[in-house]
Amino acid sequence: MSFPDYRPRRLRKNEHFRRLIRETVLSVDDLVYPLFVTFGKKVKKPISSMPGHFQMSVDYLVKEVKEARDLGIPAVLLFGIPDKKDEFASGAFAEDGIIQVAVRAVKEAVPDILVITDVCLCEYTSHGHCGMLEGDSIENDSSIEVLGETALSHAVAGADMVAPSAMMDGQVLAIREALDEKGYDGVPVMAYSAKYASCFYGPFREAAESAPRFGDRKSYQMDPANSDEAIREMTLDVEEGADIVMVKPALPYLDVIRRAKEEFDLPLAAYNVSGEFSMIKAAANMGWLDGEKAMMESLTAIKRAGADIIITYFAKEAAAVLRR
Ligand code: PBG
Repeated sequence: MSFPDYRPRRLRKNEHFRRLIRETVLSVDDLVYPLFVTFGKKVKKPISSMPGHFQMSVDYLVKEVKEARDLGIPAVLLFGIPDKKDEFASGAFAEDGIIQVAVRAVKEAVPDILVITDVCLCEYTSHGHCGMLEGDSIENDSSIEVLGETALSHAVAGADMVAPSAMMDGQVLAIREALDEKGYDGVPVMAYSAKYASCFYGPFREAAESAPRFGDRKSYQMDPANSDEAIREMTLDVEEGADIVMVKPALPYLDVIRRAKEEFDLPLAAYNVSGEFSMIKAAANMGWLDGEKAMMESLTAIKRAGADIIITYFAKEAAAVLRR
């Protein structure tokens, strides 16, 4: 097929043709909405680098989850900000920890939406790293025990799915075993499998108050230059029992999403992270980009690359657009 016999523009003539041949259709069913929960009452503290997002106390969180449910969003992903941090991350697995309290409240008030919990230690450790410290290095095998205990405490509180994001080796297996041992074999694991050491998490670290006090996360999160390694990381997580694998961030890593989609026969999630959100918001705020169009184009591109599930701070806004 070549010009002049073939003229691709014939099928782009109007929106009806374009709809008819559209390959990728974004749906509200694809979206997961991340939220930040903190202790207290009537707290709704704006996150300056993420317009429209807040650290919310449980009362406001419940309202927000109801709004997400009413927009048809199938799941929320919760991050907790504890009232105190220590070197053992004890707030991560405490029965009365912020996530455990929030999950119980949300499940009771809004039973008809999935509650996914992020399983990591960086919000709970005094040093801000995602695992246990020994000297200046992050110890792997003691960390995965704590991650197992943390995931179990989320499941006991009623979480529908747990999502380990600490990038410790063996974390999926440790969590799967901790859950199964106590009878939570029905709780799936969505593994942050290919999680890169990315500067695009900057705004999140303000939101979750989880920036490391020293050093960086490069000894556990992946080098942005690597893609074969992402496949090895995902293979391990699949073998350890992950039910869903994830690539994070999304937009700068669409090639990794595509490779993962071709390589693995499991649902694939992509995390459209805080920095990806903030860039669009900032540019829109300056009048440099049409924020809504940039949002829809980005989310569609992530889906086109191969993501079945998109975790995004745009979830509510996109759901509202998709509804029109
Ligand atoms: C916890 C975690 C982070 C994000 C999700 N889970 C921060 C980090 O690894 O530093 C980032 C999400 C985002 O930027 O939106 N480890």
